[in-house]
Amino acid sequence: MKNYKIAVIAGDGIGPEVIGEGVKVLNKVAAMDSGFRFDFTYFPWGCEFYAKHGKMMDDNGIETLKEFDAIYLGAVGFPGVPDHISLWDLLLRIRKEFKQYVNIRPVQLLKGAKTSLVDVKREDINLLFIRENTEGEYAGAGEWLFKGQPNEVVLQNSVFSRKGTERIIRYAFETARKEGRSLTSISKANALNYSMVFWDQVFEEISAEYPDVETASYLVDAAAMLMVKDPKRFEVVVTSNLFGDILTDLGAAIAGGIGLAAGANINPERKYPSMFEPIHGSAPDIAGKGIANPLASIWSASQMLDFFGYESYGKQVLDAIEELLIESKILTPDMGGTASTSEVADRIIDLIDTRISVGKISV
Ligand code: NAD
Ligand code: IPM
Ligand code: MN
Repeated sequence: MKNYKIAVIAGDGIGPEVIGEGVKVLNKVAAMDSGFRFDFTYFPWGCEFYAKHGKMMDDNGIETLKEFDAIYLGAVGFPGVPDHISLWDLLLRIRKEFKQYVNIRPVQLLKGAKTSLVDVKREDINLLFIRENTEGEYAGAGEWLFKGQPNEVVLQNSVFSRKGTERIIRYAFETARKEGRSLTSISKANALNYSMVFWDQVFEEISAEYPDVETASYLVDAAAMLMVKDPKRFEVVVTSNLFGDILTDLGAAIAGGIGLAAGANINPERKYPSMFEPIHGSAPDIAGKGIANPLASIWSASQMLDFFGYESYGKQVLDAIEELLIESKILTPDMGGTASTSEVADRIIDLIDTRISVGKISV
């Protein structure tokens, strides 16, 4: 029996509320197969930990996490600890240290999910964002000069290395080729006269290696507009760290809401653990009320199953989400319902159970 060691960092705010439900779903799936199980280890890291210990994670946290097959993360950041500290010392640190340079974020309108757009067919919203995840605008480099003085100047540097840029673009081309879909690069070379000129150049160079993949290239401002006006023109999308962050929240809005949007932070070489998380944050405005939507966490659990090679189970979890959305009875308030976080997850678990017993799926 294969035993997957999963590090759970539930984190702050609604993080523990939604991740607990995702763990239930993963346990349910594992219970249906005698071939594997999940062994969850919980780490209490986050803003409460910071309040007690003055740090976001244990000193040997990164070393400890290295031993795991994957990380399942809720959300990090809460009022009381400056965001740039909480995020840089935990979430962003993990992405960087574990070279999780690929961030896969589907912007796909599931059956039954409601889009905020008008005049679009469900099939029109089926984008796969591949976001650069360890450098670019998130290099963390800069300088604060003449602090507090009239001539104060702040520099925030972006870093686009050839290695980092090539590998994300190549990964995106491989994905597009495998899926038989087009690849769109989103950049901003008209204003960012170093970083994005370089990005576009690398995209063009690598596209020569993939003559079979149809390509397009947009400036990020126009891309934001077109994602709303005409999303069907995008299939696989590759973009930089910051643009990918912003556009995938926009993507969430057009594809069922932020409570449904999932992301996988992947180290493709599998030398280090990859990390699965909803793309939303700790939602302080609804934390503690038991009404957070657990579907994004559950979708990221499905991404974890895919990553371990159990694509049929991953699909089953996604199909159960679609069934729940089509039923439209047990939904959290962000989706117009009145159900609690755990009622939604319990329904998903029932649906997974029924799907198996009536043989709707083959695993
Ligand atoms: P947020 O995503 O936490 O919340 C934005 C809005 O979406 C809020 O109204 C919230 O109630 C709603 N929302 C988010 N997730 C939801 C869910 N599952 N169900 C229902 N409603 C949901 O973004 P924010 O308010 O800008 O950030 C709050 C904190 O989270 C900040 O500290 C921020 O830095 C952090 N953050 C962390 C992550 C992460 O850990 N991956 C991601 C984004 C933001
Ligand atoms: C996300 C989040 C993070 C990011 C923040 C919290 C640093 O917004 O995962 O989308 O910008 O990557
Ligand atoms: Mn974000």
